[in-house]
Amino acid sequence: MIYSEKVMDHFANPRNVGEIPDADGVGEVGNAKCGDIMKMYIKVNDGIITDVKFKTFGCGAAVATSSMATELIKGKPIEEAMKLTNKAVIEALDGLPTVKLHCSVLAEQAMKAALADYYTRQGIDPKMILGDLSTPESCEI
Ligand code: FES
Repeated sequence: MIYSEKVMDHFANPRNVGEIPDADGVGEVGNAKCGDIMKMYIKVNDGIITDVKFKTFGCGAAVATSSMATELIKGKPIEEAMKLTNKAVIEALDGLPTVKLHCSVLAEQAMKAALADYYTRQGIDPKMILGDLSTPESCEI
């Protein structure tokens, strides 16, 4: 399996790893088949994602995609973060092997779950904004 240099870099030196104790939104998703778990924390100020951190018990591709996802939404308005897809994350990483594409879904779902939690805490039904959050695709391993 060939990984791009960017994937290897984000896997070896993941950005924004950790937790935010006083986060404004926390999302946790898991994949029942491979057992990988992803947790994402966001801090929001005036509609801007001022900080984001993640923790994962997952494969290398899950680490690299979450690392890149956090980089792409940090400092951005919430509206922009909501539009971030796993496809954009994969493009930013110069691609992922096909059998690992589903791992990037975990990163997207964790981020959306954190945003949904943020909206819930604001007293807003997240379904009105984010729609129904589907569960991550299963891992074919
Ligand atoms: Fe399950 Fe990568 S997220 S193998």
